[in-house]
Amino acid sequence: PRSAERGTDGIVRIAGVPVTDLAEKYGTPLFVVDEDDFRSRCREMARAFGGAERVHYASKAFLSAEIARWVRDEGLSMDVASGGELAVALHAGFPAERITMHGNNKSVAELDTAVAAGVGHIVLDSMVEIDRLDEVAARHGVVQDVLIRITVGVEAHTHEFIATAHEDQKFGFSLSGGKAMAAVERVFATDNLRLVGLHSHIGSQIFEVDGFELAAHRVIGLMREIVDRFGAERTSQLSIVDLGGGLGISYLDSDNPPPVAELAAKLAHIVATESQAANLPVPTLMVEPGRAIAGPGTVTLYEVGTIKDVTLDGGATRRYVSVDGGMSDNIRTSLYQAEYDARLVSRDSDGAPVVARVVGKHCESGDIVIRDAWMPDDLGPGDLLAVAATGAYCYSMSSRYNLLTRPAVVAVRDGASRLILRRETVEDLLSLEVSE
Ligand code: LLP
Repeated sequence: PRSAERGTDGIVRIAGVPVTDLAEKYGTPLFVVDEDDFRSRCREMARAFGGAERVHYASKAFLSAEIARWVRDEGLSMDVASGGELAVALHAGFPAERITMHGNNKSVAELDTAVAAGVGHIVLDSMVEIDRLDEVAARHGVVQDVLIRITVGVEAHTHEFIATAHEDQKFGFSLSGGKAMAAVERVFATDNLRLVGLHSHIGSQIFEVDGFELAAHRVIGLMREIVDRFGAERTSQLSIVDLGGGLGISYLDSDNPPPVAELAAKLAHIVATESQAANLPVPTLMVEPGRAIAGPGTVTLYEVGTIKDVTLDGGATRRYVSVDGGMSDNIRTSLYQAEYDARLVSRDSDGAPVVARVVGKHCESGDIVIRDAWMPDDLGPGDLLAVAATGAYCYSMSSRYNLLTRPAVVAVRDGASRLILRRETVEDLLSLEVSE
């Protein structure tokens, strides 16, 4: 986080709170969220994209009721991708009209809840869903505003599991073969759906701007075709281009993501010029950043438990540093070969830096937090490590593997800490059991 600093005592403070105090008070592993960092990234996005409501925080990155309140207070909108995310947002008092609902297989129950709550937009992802939602909206006696998700055929330069705009994946309606236009026609043929925009999400953790530019170009191209086909009057509500999320963040010092303001300016420019060239009214540009808001301002604190040197073929040694969490609180390293950086944060050390593998406590060898981390050679049991930039897709993808209990999450601000999600307990584990 921006507020992290090492004192002369060698102890790292976040928002003025010593990490050693946090570990003592709340235990480890612990997610520490710098509230001002999160909020200031919301504001930065709002400024860059010319209005807070245009920015939908992608809650899949990390959501709790408190996070939903921060997003609400900062005036942003929210993207939810399940009934669960919707429930937490509504529970927190997030205004339904600022919620956009996503998903490639929303259930009737999820659509029912969303329509009943009055969510602002629902993003349609399949023909089946168009009919399903039309029925749900009819039952509620409302006309629901919808966007159609378009597969723009862009190869985003990122891990294959998080690239979403190439043809061979499950999301959206393809531009090729007339699939997207067929979906548009279907929506126009319904009584209870109103098409207000088009959506594209090309992937996640993206550093190159050109994929977004191509997506914008193709979405506007389709918009023009729609207006040509249905006429300006029938399409007068079609006013939103939502380019999804995907802005990459820096996990390592060597990472160099494009500045948000620069990306936003480029996208706004291309949307404006392309729509003018196509003789269209300039649509409102919307985005759905998750990682870029939630990611950078959080660290995971772990306590070192054991250290082991193993001898490799050829005689070299590798040091394994085991911490008290692992793939249950951060699956990203094993799932996407994600890279992280960690620091000793509980004391000063003048130990020589050695390359170590930071691993968790789960019963498999793929349980790696950091493949190669520089650690002082005097690191030992009881030391606290902080892994940086774990705010996105770590807690939200956490599991109970090996029946480890989920860590607590605390927010820090102005020298004070506050629990926002309590640590799971063994009672929580047992609470799902139905037999004595
Ligand atoms: N909008 C839509 C429709 C999405 O599918 C996503 C992410 C976002 C917005 C937010 O993307 P962001 O700005 O956070 O990149 N678990 C993976 C990331 C999966 C992203 C899924 N969709 C990871 O840990 O890298």
